[in-house]
Amino acid sequence: MNFASDNIVGGSAPVLQAILDANAGTMAAYGNDEISKRVRARFNAIFEHEVSVFFVTTGTAANALALSSAVPPYGLCVCHREAHIIDDECGAPEFFMHGAKLAGLAGVGAKLKADDVAAYLESLPKAVKQMPPKALSISQVSECGLVYGLDELADLGAVCRAHGLSFHMDGARFVNALVSLGCTPAEMTWKQGVDILSFGATKNGGLMAEAIVVFRKDLAEALDYRSKRAGQIISKGRLIAAQFEGYFAKDHWLDNARHANRIAALLSQGLLRIPGVRLAWPTEANEVFPIIPKSLDQVLKAAGLLYHNWTELSLPETERVADHEVLIRLVTSWATREEDVRKLLEVASSEAAQQAAE
Ligand SMILES: Cc1ncc(COP(=O)(O)O)c(C=O)c1O
Repeated sequence: MNFASDNIVGGSAPVLQAILDANAGTMAAYGNDEISKRVRARFNAIFEHEVSVFFVTTGTAANALALSSAVPPYGLCVCHREAHIIDDECGAPEFFMHGAKLAGLAGVGAKLKADDVAAYLESLPKAVKQMPPKALSISQVSECGLVYGLDELADLGAVCRAHGLSFHMDGARFVNALVSLGCTPAEMTWKQGVDILSFGATKNGGLMAEAIVVFRKDLAEALDYRSKRAGQIISKGRLIAAQFEGYFAKDHWLDNARHANRIAALLSQGLLRIPGVRLAWPTEANEVFPIIPKSLDQVLKAAGLLYHNWTELSLPETERVADHEVLIRLVTSWATREEDVRKLLEVASSEAAQQAAE
């Protein structure tokens, strides 16, 4: 059983079928094909906005290129100190921003609060020796599995506007947040001031399907050149675009995310019934962060369960992981089965029963 991430599975059947359907015959290369055009129009409809769309193959490429168009080489990009862009992308954003820096702020559950961002921005000296802040980047879903509500997004958007920052959203798990909030893509983005979005589909059924979605024309101006220089103008681009066609058809993307979130909720409810287990943060999308006894961790790993231990950096002040405990992350996906959850819970409950008997 593998709960290590939502990218440990392959592509979903409708996505694979869409690739097969797009495979036959010849079509223009480098994204000038009919499928890419159709998918771009579909993005306009989904976001109720005329957007510029750039297809890329990884979330890192989406983030690094998006930020490179929002932040000049002498600028600062504010993010959470545990953000994927600062912790997990090997410096790609800084590399593509050509010298700009990421400034990581603290925040419970890897979320940023508008007041904290504003206080940080106001604390920066307005001198030429200080890199000026040019963008804010947040992850929706956050790295601790939390979802920003629309009010929180609106407050962050207002701070960005007040300070002249572009607002970037890392949406590697965009749709898991979307179905959790039950809002529209427009409401979760440009209506709250988001200017540029890394739209992930790989974790939710795609094979390698990520897109940069740009709501502000000026930010899109040079992105095709930047993408080409990053090796992200894909010659058989129709096969990347086709994945989105399969993904969006018949609400497949929404169904997949609803499934992943529902299974995560089942898992989290089941874990809470096990003595000695509690959650570090509530389960709001498709990631569960239980604090468990180390003895249980050993038993789960011995039973072949795969998952990652997690950092305690963004715990609430009232929470701490004791010496005999460990914080872990369990991720569910469109392909996780209820049976997988049942098996995990069986192993965990029998260990708990054994501990109680001793
Ligand atoms: C928050 C977040 N952003 C972006 C990514 C995309 O990374 P990759 O370059 O591996 O596709 C991930 C994947 O783990 C992620 O969790």
